[in-house]
Amino acid sequence: MARKLAVIGAGLMGSGIAQVSAVAGWEVTLRDITDAALKRGTDGIKASYDKFVSKGRLTADDASAALARISTTTDLDAAQEADVVVEAVFEKLEVKHEIFRALDKLVRDDAVLASNTSAIPITKIAAVTTRPERVVGTHFFSPVPMMQLCELVRGLKTSDETLATAREFAESVGKTCIVVRRDVAGFVTTRLISALVVEAAKLYESGVASAEDIDLACKLGFGHAMGPLATADLTGVDILLHATENIYAETRDEKFAPPELMRRMVDAGDLGRKRGQGFYQH
Ligand SMILES: NC(=O)c1ccc[n+]([C@@H]2O[C@H](COP(=O)([O-])OP(=O)(O)OC[C@H]3O[C@@H](n4cnc5c(N)ncnc54)[C@H](O)[C@@H]3O)[C@@H](O)[C@H]2O)c1
Repeated sequence: MARKLAVIGAGLMGSGIAQVSAVAGWEVTLRDITDAALKRGTDGIKASYDKFVSKGRLTADDASAALARISTTTDLDAAQEADVVVEAVFEKLEVKHEIFRALDKLVRDDAVLASNTSAIPITKIAAVTTRPERVVGTHFFSPVPMMQLCELVRGLKTSDETLATAREFAESVGKTCIVVRRDVAGFVTTRLISALVVEAAKLYESGVASAEDIDLACKLGFGHAMGPLATADLTGVDILLHATENIYAETRDEKFAPPELMRRMVDAGDLGRKRGQGFYQH
């Protein structure tokens, strides 16, 4: 029998997770708070399947079978039969707490509760449940259908069995996992990109090299697909500033102290691609 997945939040990440899981044979229930949000999510999934079909990477039959495996609802109770639940709502602790409290009361005892948070400690999310050993981080990357990585995050109480189930789930949908063994601020990936962006911005700010040259150094010298300042523009200078500030607040490690330039760019609205101006003009 097909295994059941509930995805809470039909935004960019939740719809992507639903999309790849349905292709892999999971029976997916996608939950959001409004029908409009669910429609946006499923429209995005359909458009993405169409693209895969037109590129010959998925057959039309497989795409329609996958689509038929996704059901949508505004009722959280629909998660009660799930083997795995992945939460992908706004990055706000209070919102995640409300969902985990409710899920704790309704899902099966053996269900795994996963969060797609990019930065909130899993231990903090798990603390409002009666089963912190069954809570884990499954940090997928955007766009989910294209990006290979899933960063599995172990909270202080996450059990080996839960981690194994999370790995099995992520691998079943085609991802490769890394394991964050301790629930540190920024996990592994946000720690690495923050340290690199902060240092790149400091070099640029102090006039050591141009933005283009700093990015070229990483591309040609280290084989990175994209330089750190171009990455900051793509992700959003505000998003990276926020991530770095959180890591700094928790670690007090100077290497994560964001340079003044990043703060001033955010004040000025130079947030990167989404505003047409960041470290580069777009
Ligand atoms: N965007 C990224 O690149 C990215 C990458 C990795 C991880 N994340 C993380 O994934 C999570 C989701 O991010 P996103 O970019 O998909 O956000 P998003 O804003 O695109 O979507 C969030 C969705 O959650 C829904 N929602 C809010 N409260 C809800 C509730 N109580 N029940 C059900 N749905 C609810 C909203 O209506 C919205 O559709 C966040 O924790 C974020 O930090 C995002």
